[in-house]
Amino acid sequence: MSRRPFLIANWKLFKLKADAKAFCDRVVSLIQMEARLPQLAICPSYTLLETIHASLKSHPALISVGAQNMAMAEEGAYTGEVSAAMLKEVGVTVVILGHSERRQYFGETDATVNTKTKLALQHGLLPVICVGELLAEREAGQTDAVVTQQVKGALADIAASDIETMVFAYEPVWAIGTGKTCDAVEANRVCELIRQLAGSDSVRVLYGGSVKPDNFDGFMAQPSIDGGLVGGASLDPGSFVDLIEIAQKHVPHPVAC
Ligand code: PGA
Repeated sequence: MSRRPFLIANWKLFKLKADAKAFCDRVVSLIQMEARLPQLAICPSYTLLETIHASLKSHPALISVGAQNMAMAEEGAYTGEVSAAMLKEVGVTVVILGHSERRQYFGETDATVNTKTKLALQHGLLPVICVGELLAEREAGQTDAVVTQQVKGALADIAASDIETMVFAYEPVWAIGTGKTCDAVEANRVCELIRQLAGSDSVRVLYGGSVKPDNFDGFMAQPSIDGGLVGGASLDPGSFVDLIEIAQKHVPHPVAC
């Protein structure tokens, strides 16, 4: 089965408006439009969503606008939260859910990820669900058990027809922002486990954790890795375009989704 590669920039708590606009202008000017493109998304902070959307307006099919998180309720007394409908209103189509930094610093659990995933699907947002083990869990041989629990928890009571469209990111927590990467063959193994757990060959599974232009091709060359969720290396337009060009080499023809 050929799955369309997907490259996502996760800007975390970085950039202000002028820089975000300059980034988009530069990336659009550098992308090789004539070549087959992977799916692309930029996930900035909430305050930059409209800026990114406006900056990419003349190329609507090129790069999707994504959020890094979403409220677990439709509306209500939830100070500081942003709902699925609010995201849609500013042009968001993709939402990262359950990132390890959300789990670590904001107490998100598999149950909250499950609730948010259902809401995202109801609103027609594409959920990108992050899973991955801590270093201590890997060293204790618990990687598969941890990932299995996270995937099953996120997917509880979700219809198979919805799961087919979803995207996962395998992000070993010890590899995020550390410069350490998971061995590509091992990352491929865990990505395939995630796809098996999801129960559909069409589910795309990305790798995340210190992806850089000089290591990305090694991940993309693996049959079960469909792209990257990239933090640090997505902040610079030149390095993001380098990553796009690597993903471009792996776009199957014709693309399946
Ligand atoms: P990193 O972050 O590329 O900076 O390791 C990845 C992520 O957290 O999604």
